[in-house]
Amino acid sequence: MQVHLYDSAAQVGQAAAILIGAQLISKPNAVLGLATGSSPIPTYQELIRMHRAGVVDFSSAVSFNLDEYCRLPESHPCSYHDFMHQQLFAHVNFAQGNTHVPNGNAADLAAECARYDQAIAKAGGIDLQLLGIGHNGHIGFNEPSDQFVYGCHVVKLTQSTIEANRRFFDSEADVPREAISLGIGSIMNAKRVVLLATGYDKAEVVRRSIREDIDPATQASILRTHPNVIILLDRAAASKL
Ligand code: GLP
Repeated sequence: MQVHLYDSAAQVGQAAAILIGAQLISKPNAVLGLATGSSPIPTYQELIRMHRAGVVDFSSAVSFNLDEYCRLPESHPCSYHDFMHQQLFAHVNFAQGNTHVPNGNAADLAAECARYDQAIAKAGGIDLQLLGIGHNGHIGFNEPSDQFVYGCHVVKLTQSTIEANRRFFDSEADVPREAISLGIGSIMNAKRVVLLATGYDKAEVVRRSIREDIDPATQASILRTHPNVIILLDRAAASKL
């Protein structure tokens, strides 16, 4: 596990974009695992800048997002479909059909989860998985639990996640209670994992994930067993290490 410290969230985003850009240069048809939340926004801004500068080309790349809310229309401004469109897909040159986000509106959500894992396997697995981390240690929407779930699955969001994500919705009642998430197995199968954490409010969960026992109560702690994980932190998120 490598941990790199930066002075600012913008620098964390630049470092992550360099890693993703290098991945695309060394393997133009790379399979990228992408994340939502505020943490990766500077990364996507930097990737857009690198793309516009002619340095990074997404035309052969494939992406799979980590998660999506259930029963929220794709066009809803809080859906992860919409987030990815606004923050990245509309501004770079992925080929049509090469970006994937779980369908949280599928009639059969269990079948959708199985289909999503199969699609990742068929694409050759994820080369680089970008991750944020929730205040409770979740990665994707793998919430604190007494176990690690291997495959893509439907998750009941915890109250702390509902409250954390409430800021994007009109009211807490509007926050979906369920989501589809890649499982820990799918994340751990990625050839490289890049986890971002910025801000003082992530300092405690970063400390728990890196310094305390590997424990499904802090799902991100499993990443320490991954052979190729890079953690990019600003000084605030690293302040309790
Ligand atoms: C959401 C997403 C996670 C993300 C987390 C942290 O719950 N499902 O993938 O890592 O929020 O978000 P933020 O980066 O905004 O703190």
